[in-house]
Amino acid sequence: MSDWIWINGEIIPMAEARIGVEDRGYQFADGVYEVIRIYNGKPFTLDQHLERLERSAAGIDLPVPLERAPLATEIQKIIARSGTREGMVYLQLTRGVSPRNHVFPSQVRPTLLFYTKPLSPPQVPGEGEGAKLMAVADDRWKRCWIKSIALLPNVLAKNKAIAAGYDEAVFIDGGIVTECSASNLFAVIGQKLVTHPVGSKVLPGITRAVLLDIATAQGIPIDERGFVEEEAIRASELFITSTTREVSWVARWNDRYIGQARCGPITLALHRALFQKILQQTNGSSSS
Ligand code: PDD
Repeated sequence: MSDWIWINGEIIPMAEARIGVEDRGYQFADGVYEVIRIYNGKPFTLDQHLERLERSAAGIDLPVPLERAPLATEIQKIIARSGTREGMVYLQLTRGVSPRNHVFPSQVRPTLLFYTKPLSPPQVPGEGEGAKLMAVADDRWKRCWIKSIALLPNVLAKNKAIAAGYDEAVFIDGGIVTECSASNLFAVIGQKLVTHPVGSKVLPGITRAVLLDIATAQGIPIDERGFVEEEAIRASELFITSTTREVSWVARWNDRYIGQARCGPITLALHRALFQKILQQTNGSSSS
C-alpha cells in the first residue's frame, strides 16, 4: 500500500486518513469499487473502469461526485504522488456518513477515496503455473453486474478454496458455471470461446471485454452462453481473467485436470495479444 491516499478531494498521508464509524460503506456495505491496473506508471483501460464505476453507482442510486474527466485527472495525480510504476489503484465510493438508518439520507455526502498498491509487472504469457479451481455453490445476489463492496460470498468462497489447496473458487448456479470469486471464466469448447453472458449473474469484467475484442479481431468464434460443469471439465482449454491476474490458464477443476494440463494455444494467443496491447498503450512518456 502506498503512503498516500486521495480522500474526498485531498491527497494526504495514508496514516492520517479517517473514515467515520457511521459511514454507510462500513455499516451497510453501501458502496461500489474499482480496481484499475497501473503499468509503467499509467492506468490501463481507465476510461472503461470509470464507465463501469458510473454504471455500478447508478445501480445503487448513488451519484459519482466527479465527472469522468476530472476523476481521471485526480487518479493520475495519486499515481504520480505515490510513484507507483507497476501496481493498481483501489477506488471506493460509498454513500458517506449519516446516522445509521436503512433509508438513504436526504443529503448524501459520498465518501470517495483511492490509493495505489504495488504489483508485479505484467505476467509473461505462457509462464507460470496453471490455476486450480474449486467449484462452490453461487449464493450471491442477483445484481452481480454491480461492482459492489458487499463481497462476503466471494470472500467466503475464495477462503474455502484456498483452505482446500486451490487458487480460486468457481461459482456454480443451478448446475451452470457463472464466474469465479474475483475473476471471469472462459472455456474453449469445439474451437469456440465460451463464456457466461454478463448481467445478473456475472460481473462485466474489463479484462473479459478486452479479451473478447481481441478474440473477435483474431477471428475466434465467441459463444456467450451458460455451460454446465461437465462441459467445463471436458473443455480443451479453460482460463480466468481479471485486472490483477490478467490471463491465467486453468490446470485443474476440483480433482480433474483440464485439457493437456498446460497453457493451451488459444489461451496463449489471446494472452500474447493482451500483453502486446498493454505494452503499446502504456509505453512512451504520455500519461494517457
Ligand atoms: N475483481 N468477476 C468478479 C466477481 C470480480 O471481482 C472481478 C475483478 C472480475 C474481473 O473483472 P476485471 O477484469 O474488470 O478486473 C470478475 C477485482 C480484481 C478485485 O475484486 O480485486
